[in-house]
Amino acid sequence: MTKKSVFYCQECSHKVPRWMGRCPNCGSWNSIIEEKHPTTGKRQQNERDPGNDMPRPITEIIPISEERFSTGISEVDRVMGGGVVPGSLVLLGGDPGIGKSTILLQVAGSSGKTNQCDVLYVSGEESVRQIRLRADRLGVLQDNIYVCAETEAFQIERYILDISPRLVVIDSIQTMYNPEVSAAPGSVSQVRECTYRLMNIAKSTNTSIILVGHVTKEGMLAGPKVLEHMVDVVLQMEGQKEQGFRLLRGEKNRFGSTNEIGVFDMQESGLIEVANPSSLFMMAHAEEVPGAVVVSTMEGTRPLLVEIQALVCSSGFGVPKRMTTGLDANRSALIMAVLEKRVGLQMGGHDAYINVVGGVRIYEPAVDLGVAVSLASSFRDRAVEKGTAVMGEIGLTGEIRSVSSIEKRVREAKYLGFQRCLIPSADIGQLKDNYIDVEGVKTVGDAIERALKV
Ligand SMILES: Nc1ncnc2c1ncn2[C@@H]1O[C@H](COP(=O)(O)OP(=O)(O)O)[C@@H](O)[C@H]1O
Ligand SMILES: [Mg+2]
Repeated sequence: MTKKSVFYCQECSHKVPRWMGRCPNCGSWNSIIEEKHPTTGKRQQNERDPGNDMPRPITEIIPISEERFSTGISEVDRVMGGGVVPGSLVLLGGDPGIGKSTILLQVAGSSGKTNQCDVLYVSGEESVRQIRLRADRLGVLQDNIYVCAETEAFQIERYILDISPRLVVIDSIQTMYNPEVSAAPGSVSQVRECTYRLMNIAKSTNTSIILVGHVTKEGMLAGPKVLEHMVDVVLQMEGQKEQGFRLLRGEKNRFGSTNEIGVFDMQESGLIEVANPSSLFMMAHAEEVPGAVVVSTMEGTRPLLVEIQALVCSSGFGVPKRMTTGLDANRSALIMAVLEKRVGLQMGGHDAYINVVGGVRIYEPAVDLGVAVSLASSFRDRAVEKGTAVMGEIGLTGEIRSVSSIEKRVREAKYLGFQRCLIPSADIGQLKDNYIDVEGVKTVGDAIERALKV
């Protein structure tokens, strides 16, 4: 086999013909590394199933079965679009220590139990005795879970063929290596090569494989974007380590929607499903304090009520600080600009801190109004009327624009005991039922006046 030198950026997996100090694609410094790469073209061809090679009319092709199997954990099933598709390759990313190994061991245990099948758990990071200890703690000691500490791709392939498990967990793809590739484990070539092999074995044996992927300090799945392209499903685990709960979010799914989230509470006995996430995020919300407001955000098909808190205080010297946690900083800056220009809140000489309680990240524009109200509430030192939830997107002219799924949002607020909702006035007509006190608002100034106590 001929070995050819290639140079890859370890951040973005961009390929360059020679070593460079800076990647021309993503601009990161010292990320280009030489990797000896076997020419794999030949082997890839040989491995193909000869019968599947010829193009055929699409009507003659037998589709893969839509049948999924349950992991036995309904929040995980939900994020995967209703269960695991046989033969699929799933990637789970997340910060170190967030609970990836924990949840996958639980998934291994409960899928084994629910489906009465064998499950293989391969770890390149922990010893089998460590895994056994954790399994004890999580209550998943079962003899249909096979564990091994192995990092060599061919060996793992052999185990999969020997044991024929229904589900395989590889923890993590960055520790796996293929001895034919001379690059270090975790490098672009290794990760790609190992994923490629696992993908082949998943498809040919109809085994579902879940890979753990590390996350770089920038929050990207480590190294190769290629990894995300190769797998069928990408899941992301998030949350703040100091707090108990974790979110599982779908980022890519070839077999279903990517909008669903699963919510878990991290406890001694592992990750416990949270059936009603809003109640978890609302737990602390009892007092009326200036700066705190409850918003509604849609996570997939589920509405989630979360609290946004803002603190606006006069800044000392220099440029005022602007800090946001859990929200898009640019979006927040835009909302502050609208508040300044359209509502006349002069926050130029003030520091502003905005935080989503509980460490959730919200990307939805429907929380704009909540951000505006919390800032105004803190700035004016007037609390939001108790039992009020707000929702609406803010336009540059200060108008409140309509949001999706208004009915679901309002229903959830009612369900959690809110008495009043401020919603875009354009959406009032969409509400069919007679709900709680719902007020339509047209402009951000109007909404602030109605939301804050006199
Ligand atoms: N004995 C324990 N009791 C409760 N929680 C624990 C215990 N041991 C570990 N944990 C929790 O599990 C987390 C580690 O999860 P782990 O699944 O190893 O993360 P990852 O695989 O994503 O790096 C730790 O951050 C800690 O919060
Ligand atoms: Mg781990």
